[in-house]
Amino acid sequence: MLRDGEFDINIRSDGIEVWVTKMGDFMNMNTAIIDRTNKVVAIIDPFDSERWFSVLKSEDLCPTHLLYTHTHRDHTWGYKKMLELVPDIQVFGHEDADMSDFVHGELFGKVDFTHKWDNAPNSTIEWSEGGIILKVTHSPGHAPGHVTFHGHGIYHAGDLLFTAYSGRVDLPGSDPSAQISSLKNARKILSSLPEDWRLIPGHRYEWIDGTTPDWVTIKEILENNFSLNDKSVTSSFS
Ligand SMILES: [Fe+2]
Repeated sequence: MLRDGEFDINIRSDGIEVWVTKMGDFMNMNTAIIDRTNKVVAIIDPFDSERWFSVLKSEDLCPTHLLYTHTHRDHTWGYKKMLELVPDIQVFGHEDADMSDFVHGELFGKVDFTHKWDNAPNSTIEWSEGGIILKVTHSPGHAPGHVTFHGHGIYHAGDLLFTAYSGRVDLPGSDPSAQISSLKNARKILSSLPEDWRLIPGHRYEWIDGTTPDWVTIKEILENNFSLNDKSVTSSFS
């Protein structure tokens, strides 16, 4: 199990690096996809930006892209500091996740996207930079404009899925029926991926046996995640 701010580094056969860490008291899981040759560093939902920046700097790297699963405040925690450290960083998120005018402002963090995805719910588009290719799936329900990312051996689920359960849908802006559709679509996507890929949850919560692993495999989550195996998700009706 990763200590706070400790990094697991997986170097893929194509040279792309996947860095995973756990940061902060909310047990946020952050993933970075790095193309060292082209100096591309894309970080998903960075929590402790000073930590990310200094560790990358020691490797002669610098964050170049921020990719947001959604804009709940615990996921945008590091945004302001990252912008101070890297003012020209590119910031990506779904257009529906721009909640700057939302009345429940305390739930959402302000992020100025430099680029917005606009794909429909349960559709997948490709984001690429250098040698990095990630699939971006619009998966609303937990929060407006929520997306998941997969590629390079990982499926970063944000708050759509944790290892044992799915994200809550009782918050302002949540949509329980959209969540069911997103979970059905996630089940389809996960079933198409190599079963030894890792599912990185948005938060490191309890697994089915009471442990708190940093991730589980695609095979493990498909077999054991309570929400993915709920009748409302496995049923072909509704
Ligand atoms: Fe969230």
